[in-house]
Order: sequence, then structure tokens, then C-alpha cells
Amino acid sequence: MKIALACDHGAFEYKEIVKEMLTEMGHEVEDFGCHSTASVDYPDYAAPAAQSVADGKNDRGIVICGTGIGVSITANKIKGIRCALCNDPVSAKLTREHNDSNVLAMGQRILGVELMKEIVRVWINTDFSNDERHQRRINKLMALEK
Ligand code: RB5
Repeated sequence: MKIALACDHGAFEYKEIVKEMLTEMGHEVEDFGCHSTASVDYPDYAAPAAQSVADGKNDRGIVICGTGIGVSITANKIKGIRCALCNDPVSAKLTREHNDSNVLAMGQRILGVELMKEIVRVWINTDFSNDERHQRRINKLMALEK
């Protein structure tokens, strides 16, 4: 898969870990920054990454900040994006199966590194259920963008 990746200064370390991990898993990563721990504004990085998913240039996106909240709110402002902030692997699995989330948000200040990596693995490897009920609900929520 082609995966857009973005972070702010509060999550530079985890973004680098996720980049290495996804590459090792055989995915193609587009890194939208940031590229150091120097202070930046998360919308400047999360929005272009999410936009690339909405435009079909990347299949999915992963956005990370201190809490995961700022980047998730940002990503969900982009039309076509269903961003899920996940702090556990169960949520990561269910949001793929039920919401067909196309962007994952996480917080470096919230998650230990092994838990964060497990959330990424589960979210990346779980397919949408294709269940008619879930698709109907997604259609309704996407209609709210119009
Ligand atoms: C940056 O200081 C911090 O506000 C950001 O990483 C994030 O937690 C915002 O939601």
C-alpha cells in the first residue's frame, strides 16, 4: 500500500519509527514531515497528508502528534477522510472493519512505543468488513460532507 505519514514536533520520534516499520512491511511511505523536533503547527503537516489520501495519491494515512487529537481533528476537516484516533489495538481493528477509516491518528505522549507499533500493525492489516450495515452508516456520515 501507499501510505501518507505526518507528524508534528511532539511525535517526530514515533513518525520515524512508523516509517521504518511500514517500509520493512513492504509498504511505500510518503513522508509529509515534520523532519525534526523543532516546534511546528500540526495542521501544516496533517492536512497535506490527509489530502493526498482524499485525492487517491495514497491509499491510507497515519498522522501523529502529542495527543493525536490535533492531527485527527485536522484530518477529519478534509473531505473524504475518515480519521480514527486510536489508543488501543481493538479500536484500530474495529475502526477498519466498521468505519473503513482511511487515516489513523495516534499520540506519542499517550502511547508506549510497543503499543503504538501494535496499533499500526493491526490497523494496516485489517480490511473493511464490507458489511451492508456498516457501509450504510458510512454512506450516511459521508453524506454530511455535502
Ligand atoms: C503540541 O504542543 C501539541 O499541542 C500537539 O502535539 C498535539 O498534542 C495537539 O493536539
